[in-house]
Amino acid sequence: MELKEKYLEYFKGKKYNITTFGCQMNEHDSERISYILEDLGYTYTSDRNSADFILFNTCLVRENAELKLYGQVSSLKKLKKEHPEKIIVVSGCMMQTSTAREVIVNKHKEVDIVFGTKNINSLADLILRFLETGQRVIDISTDYGKDDFEKYNSTNYFQAYVNIMRGCDNFCSYCIVPQSRGREESRRPYSIIEEIEYLVDQGYKEFTLLGQNVNSYGNKTNYGFTFPELLNRVAKIKGVERLRFTSSHPKDLSDELVYVMRDNDNICNFFHLPMQSGSNDVLEKMNRKYTIEKYIERANKLKKEIPGIALSTDIIVGFPTETEEDFQKTLEACQIVQFDSAFTFKYSPRPKTLAAKLPIIDDEIVQDRFQRLLDELYPIFYQKNNEYIGRTVKVLIESESKNNPEIMTGRTDTFKLCHVKASKDLIGKFVDVKITDNTSFTIAGDLVK
Ligand code: 5AD
Ligand code: SF4
Repeated sequence: MELKEKYLEYFKGKKYNITTFGCQMNEHDSERISYILEDLGYTYTSDRNSADFILFNTCLVRENAELKLYGQVSSLKKLKKEHPEKIIVVSGCMMQTSTAREVIVNKHKEVDIVFGTKNINSLADLILRFLETGQRVIDISTDYGKDDFEKYNSTNYFQAYVNIMRGCDNFCSYCIVPQSRGREESRRPYSIIEEIEYLVDQGYKEFTLLGQNVNSYGNKTNYGFTFPELLNRVAKIKGVERLRFTSSHPKDLSDELVYVMRDNDNICNFFHLPMQSGSNDVLEKMNRKYTIEKYIERANKLKKEIPGIALSTDIIVGFPTETEEDFQKTLEACQIVQFDSAFTFKYSPRPKTLAAKLPIIDDEIVQDRFQRLLDELYPIFYQKNNEYIGRTVKVLIESESKNNPEIMTGRTDTFKLCHVKASKDLIGKFVDVKITDNTSFTIAGDLVK
């Protein structure tokens, strides 16, 4: 008898809960984990304390995510004591690096299973091994094995994330990702295409191609596909109604990619292009390999070729050595580019990165700059969203709004979060919405019949 069969009864009625930290790749890894758990027989619960299987999918890009994880795991000590049969699991980027893993393994005996970013496909085996032996299972792979075709996908039935590459070779001086996710590896193009064709058959409409730096897709391979070529090929698959991708490094944003976006209507008019800083001195110390002039030139190229495109970015404030003058240049660049949205971060020193050796800036100064950056950005976001008033836009309805079940939320192709009064039946469907209202972060309007 297969081990899985032996535990069929055990899994019946069991509930799982997942807490995800970090980026979209982690979000998607959690979707893959959910798929595997549901295949075993678990069902999802949003109530962590009542779950039989409690998993934390971790991130270590910034220190606060790391500290939060230790806090949340510690808070389960009592629960585990009272209910030793509950299974507590920690996975993801933190577990892929030895220092953070040792903290969990040595100081958190309440954790039963530990695995990394590269062996998600073995999760069912790890759980069965734990049930069989009753012994803690710690299993970290250094390579992905044969998991090229992912098969399992999203927790909803119309939007799918598809990994096209993993890892990163860029070594930005502040970033721990090359250590945690490893060197860059591109997935075989035909495996990606085959997966998307399969998902189209399943009814998926919107696809997001994922990678730490999708623009360098195909480098170091003999696949004969660059990222623009892959994107162009995927855009031609019948049934791919919307196509997105993230993230992109500005140094690798080619004209060819801009033209592929321009020439395919189903590729969304949205570009996430992390700027990090507006100062060339800081960009150089960050090892970003572009100047702010080059960044602005790339942003202008996108705007010129794809009118109406929305741009979003990542910005770090308080990078070591950042002066007030450097910071002013970041504010100026924000005014020049006119971002639609941004993720803003306070610099957080990460172990074994080059920047961690540099002296850090006083926290009060960083906090002050951080606030001033938001004060600069929010009116720009507001203005950008305000330009939508009176327009009719196509929105893919995703879910009920958090606060009001009569209001649905969805996204435009420019990735604007849009609220509209509509019925739940429209989830997963495209609707036309006439925009009447906006904030810095959302637009809202009425359904056009
Ligand atoms: N401190 C602050 N922000 C960071 N990021 C990456 N590493 C750090 C760090 N050490 C930000 C960058 C990146 C985003 C995913 O996270 O802006 O683009
Ligand atoms: Fe980190 Fe830079 Fe790679 Fe992005 S491109 S994952 S910031 S090293």
